[in-house]
Amino acid sequence: MNDATGVRQRQTTTQIPRSSTAAVAANRVSAVYDRDPVLRDVSFSLGAGQLVAIVGPNGAGKSTLFKLLTGIKKPAGGTVSVFGDTVYRARRDNRIAYVPQEAEIDWDYPIVVHDVVLSGRFGRIREEGGLRRILPPRFAARRHHEVSASALDAVGMSDYAGRPIGALSGGQKKRVFLARAIAQDADLLLLDEPLAGIDRATESVFFDVLVELKAAGKTVLMITHDFPTVEQFADTVMLLSRSVIEIGAPAAVLTDENLERTYHGSVRRAR
Ligand SMILES: Nc1ncnc2c1ncn2[C@@H]1O[C@H](COP(=O)(O)OP(=O)(O)OP(=O)(O)O)[C@@H](O)[C@H]1O
Ligand SMILES: [Mg+2]
Repeated sequence: MNDATGVRQRQTTTQIPRSSTAAVAANRVSAVYDRDPVLRDVSFSLGAGQLVAIVGPNGAGKSTLFKLLTGIKKPAGGTVSVFGDTVYRARRDNRIAYVPQEAEIDWDYPIVVHDVVLSGRFGRIREEGGLRRILPPRFAARRHHEVSASALDAVGMSDYAGRPIGALSGGQKKRVFLARAIAQDADLLLLDEPLAGIDRATESVFFDVLVELKAAGKTVLMITHDFPTVEQFADTVMLLSRSVIEIGAPAAVLTDENLERTYHGSVRRAR
């Protein structure tokens, strides 16, 4: 079926009630790569303003789920909605910020740190219309530069604003891409393993940011392998292993029995 913009949307537009209040909802979603099933029968509904942790083994389909939620990949079946709308419209309306897993970013991209963060403002710049919409981003209104600078400050990276992104360490790059997501000021943030490979200082910067995002009413979905962080910060945890094993409050969900079902017997909480 085609939506009003002529973009082909598979089963996404008509079946989603516009009045739905869920921040993110999936209904019987499946995903395949070259006919290999990766996700099957994934259904959930997440209220707005929550911090949701998505936990599961390597290859469980966690990053794939984010690709469905950003429209990078289309579901093979089922429907996905973001704030009661199609992913396509939610993205067009600048409501989704996405920080991919490290391995998927081209770190050699020739761009300085400030401009990486400013690129998070592109949707807002386009919304304003006018000539600036088509000019190089350095001509964006001062406000966009200020928001970007302040996001960079929030992650403690102001001193690196003029450095090429490729000349930063792994943890520094993670801070910068988090700043980019903050600058975007989207309603839903999808963070794919933001804690992997970062030091204690960066971790604590990240936790401060999480608390601020929640206070601002943002919905945050975070893929992580870090159980203590889930227990401390998440309102909801989803155990995912090709399908949803369990979803709910961390204390109820993170039981040895559920973890065994998720990791096929190889993991216990051991704390
Ligand atoms: N572009 C692709 N083409 C083919 N298969 C893919 C592709 N991306 C992922 N897969 C496969 O899909 C499955 C799920 O991958 P995905 O990246 O979603 O896992 P994940 O849960 O994010 O794992 P990890 O914890 O290692 O990041 C894996 O078996 C993977 O090999
Ligand atoms: Mg992944």
